[in-house]
Amino acid sequence: MQQVKAVVAMAKGAPVEIVTINVPDPGPGEAVVKVLTCGVCHTDLHYREGGINDDFPFLLGHEAAGVVESVGPDVTDVAPGDFVVLNWRAVCGECRACKRGDLHYCFATHNATQKMTLAEGDLAGTELSPALGIGAFAEKTLVAAGQCTKVDPDARAAAVGLLGCGVMAGIGAAINTGAITRGRSIAVIGCGGVGVAAIAGAALAGASPVIAVDIDAKKLAKAKEMGATHTVDSSQVDPVEEIKRICAQTYDGADGADVVVEAVGRPETWKQAFYARDLAGTVVLVGVPTPDMKVPDIPLIDVFGRGGALKSSWYGDCLPSRDFPMLVDLYRQGRLDLDAFVTEEIGLGDIEAAFDKMHHGDVLRSVVVI
Ligand code: APR
Ligand code: ZN
Ligand code: ZN
Repeated sequence: MQQVKAVVAMAKGAPVEIVTINVPDPGPGEAVVKVLTCGVCHTDLHYREGGINDDFPFLLGHEAAGVVESVGPDVTDVAPGDFVVLNWRAVCGECRACKRGDLHYCFATHNATQKMTLAEGDLAGTELSPALGIGAFAEKTLVAAGQCTKVDPDARAAAVGLLGCGVMAGIGAAINTGAITRGRSIAVIGCGGVGVAAIAGAALAGASPVIAVDIDAKKLAKAKEMGATHTVDSSQVDPVEEIKRICAQTYDGADGADVVVEAVGRPETWKQAFYARDLAGTVVLVGVPTPDMKVPDIPLIDVFGRGGALKSSWYGDCLPSRDFPMLVDLYRQGRLDLDAFVTEEIGLGDIEAAFDKMHHGDVLRSVVVI
């Protein structure tokens, strides 16, 4: 066991604190990772606000790159010294989804078995709940070895670590779930971190046109930098009509986009996505709705009559061992601008300030460098 500094949310709504934690030595199937960088995500703030569950204290941080320090006795996939990007859950290889070859759907994913704990004060020994099973706002963290994916060690940690969450969710929503390719059109509704990643993924896949839709002009400007060919301000115009008009300019007879990615997570924007799609097109829901939201009122005959597919995208339907090294290579070749997602590099003590900046919408990602 060793002691390291880490950022913990002790109680609902309380500002995060830097504390000392105990990190156990890795047991079977586990690895200790020396964290190099970790992005600040909305989900971390959501944990701090008690929006995920009440299992305080939370060890926050989950968009991380680092170097494996030590591994458990039976671990062979990664070794000390490997440069890795962390993912939320290790795939089991044994469940029904894994056995039929759909490893990205694994129904029995896992995290580290042992618990990290608070090292000091009245609550010393209290078990920590690591955010998304990672907990990487820390000098070191304990994860399942399968949560570590080895990538090109020459890549910039602050950029490639972001593949661990929202950037992968967005890119994967377009290229994995939506199966977007050249010769096909795409519209992305909602251009936050997830939406612009979907735009970057679609541009990488050769889609055209790539239509960005948002209600915030600043977001649309960023989307254009990331590869959008057209932007639509849906606070000013009807996005469904506008998407149809733009697609018809490129493809004679087109009546909407082949793929529409919904990256907001609301019924009204999902309904826009449904109707902005051409016949036999695909809607991809990657935005996460709240439990009170309902499927919008749409005539069932429209669902039948328009054909195609209405899909959800979990973590971009990614398989980290397949997708992370591939995307890191494309980044290294200059074909995927992951640096554009890193707005600023900050320290472990700056996370509350980074949470504040999220509300202003000027920052794609603040990345903690340890
Ligand atoms: N129409 C179009 N865009 C909208 C609308 C709307 N009605 N409402 C909000 N938006 C835009 C916002 O202006 C913002 O640019 O959606 C974007 C949401 O971005 P972020 O809040 O930065 O969220 P992001 O991190 O991109 O995640 C998007 O995916 O992973 C989920 O939980 C996450 O539901 C969230 C979604
Ligand atoms: Zn995240
Ligand atoms: Zn499985």
